[in-house]
Amino acid sequence: TDAVARTAADVVQGCIERTGAGRADDGPGAVLGLATGSTPLGAYRELIRRHRQEGLSFARAQAFTLDEYLGLPPDHPESYRSVIRREFTDSVDFPDGAVHSLDGHAPDPVAEAARYDAAIADAGGIDVQILGIGTDGHIGFNEPMSSLASRTRIKTLTEQTRRDNARFFPSEEDVPHHVLTQGLATIRDARHLLLIGLGEAKAEAIAAAVEGPLAAACPASSLQLHPHTTVLVDEAAASRLQ
Ligand code: F6R
Repeated sequence: TDAVARTAADVVQGCIERTGAGRADDGPGAVLGLATGSTPLGAYRELIRRHRQEGLSFARAQAFTLDEYLGLPPDHPESYRSVIRREFTDSVDFPDGAVHSLDGHAPDPVAEAARYDAAIADAGGIDVQILGIGTDGHIGFNEPMSSLASRTRIKTLTEQTRRDNARFFPSEEDVPHHVLTQGLATIRDARHLLLIGLGEAKAEAIAAAVEGPLAAACPASSLQLHPHTTVLVDEAAASRLQ
């Protein structure tokens, strides 16, 4: 797992150095796509360590989170806007306003989804998108049978995902039913995808994503369409691969 975290951090650092170093100060910096959840925490911790101890700077970077619960106010402790700040971005030096999230409390969530896709495009697209995977093969909150051509939109969580995420809420009933999520085609617009799978619970989903047929039944299999995807797994998550 430490090796996974270090390798993921290397990819992000490489992106920051390529897009930042040696360019005019007003050139575009790195645009990072950030997943929440448990999986990327080791990578975020490693990036915070490199920031504090090795001078890795995010001062010219921007970030976009992947998804958000609908109905939670932006400052709710479990909104992904709050979570990504607490777990990562507040501990490094992103400029003010450079960490973008979906507003789960927007009066018009359809318009909010369209605004977000436009904001990503305005930033020049995402350079590196970090992704976890659900036990059902979801990426972002694109649950099984999501359209492979989908853009950012409203989705309904499956009971499985609500159970998986209940650990962050007082009880399962408190997990929102609806979310906003970047679509599968939105995710594939990123120039480099970094899918991380950790633990036995993800082994089946990783095997279906990497070796299974390209199918909406496993949304992560849509990454097979992308010319530059890296899959990082620990031994347990790799255990069902052929
Ligand atoms: C989080 C997200 C989800 C998670 C997935 C795995 O922003 O989009 O797809 O990556 O549910 O969650 P963890 O990492 O908590 O096992």
